Amino acid sequence: MEWIKIIHICCAVLSFSGFFLRGIWMLSDSSLLYKRWVKTVPHIVDALLLFSAFLMLYIMHWSVFDYQWLQVKIGALLVYIALGMLALKPGRSKRVRFVAWLLGLFVFLFIVSVAVSKSVFGLVV
Ligand code: HEM
Repeated sequence: MEWIKIIHICCAVLSFSGFFLRGIWMLSDSSLLYKRWVKTVPHIVDALLLFSAFLMLYIMHWSVFDYQWLQVKIGALLVYIALGMLALKPGRSKRVRFVAWLLGLFVFLFIVSVAVSKSVFGLVV
């Protein structure tokens, strides 16, 4: 089981780093943000992150319905995806995109804290 958890954690680190970097490129008006590979690679990383998550659940015979902290992770992941779309797609003001990016970073760290603590409130409680 450990190997799949390592893949899951590596994907989480890559996803966070990519989101952070693309936010910097957005703030500095870099054209790199709109390169095809920059738009494609995060989808592959995020798909692997989700695939490894559900493979772990399958291997451990866990169900998302049994653990509230897993349900919170899924909900927060959807919020992270929505904030990412707001922050990284053109069409909104720089201020809105900046706030969405900051909130996205915060939500991501919250997901990690829920994962580590296995509590719906993350490391707060
Ligand atoms: C942005 C999204 C996600 C991030 C950043 C993330 C992060 C992490 C991290 C850091 C761990 C290791 C925790 C530890 O062992 O201390 C972990 C474990 C785990 N994650 Fe995720 N995760 C995400 C999404 C998901 C989703 C959507 C699911 C399932 C629906 C999921 C299911 C699991 C499971 C089952 C474990 C193993 C728990 C254990 O046995 O220790 N993760 N995740």
